[in-house]
Amino acid sequence: MIVCVCRRISDREITRHARAGMGFDEIQFELGVATQCGCCEETARDVVAQCSASEPVAAIHNTLTGAPSLPAHA
Ligand code: FES
Repeated sequence: MIVCVCRRISDREITRHARAGMGFDEIQFELGVATQCGCCEETARDVVAQCSASEPVAAIHNTLTGAPSLPAHA
């Protein structure tokens, strides 16, 4: 779904950046979302909030303890 019509930014693109640990301001700077008419800002902020950086894509959690797992070579 396109969130920002002015800049043609999709929710998937915002999600990808948010899951990489970027906050709204960083995503706005990087992608340009909500930098023209501003109509999309609330929706874009909601997408970022739903993709909390507490669950980054690369994170691996121990399914028993919920604690982050260390790489096998560590
Ligand atoms: S729709 Fe995003 S700035 Fe206009």
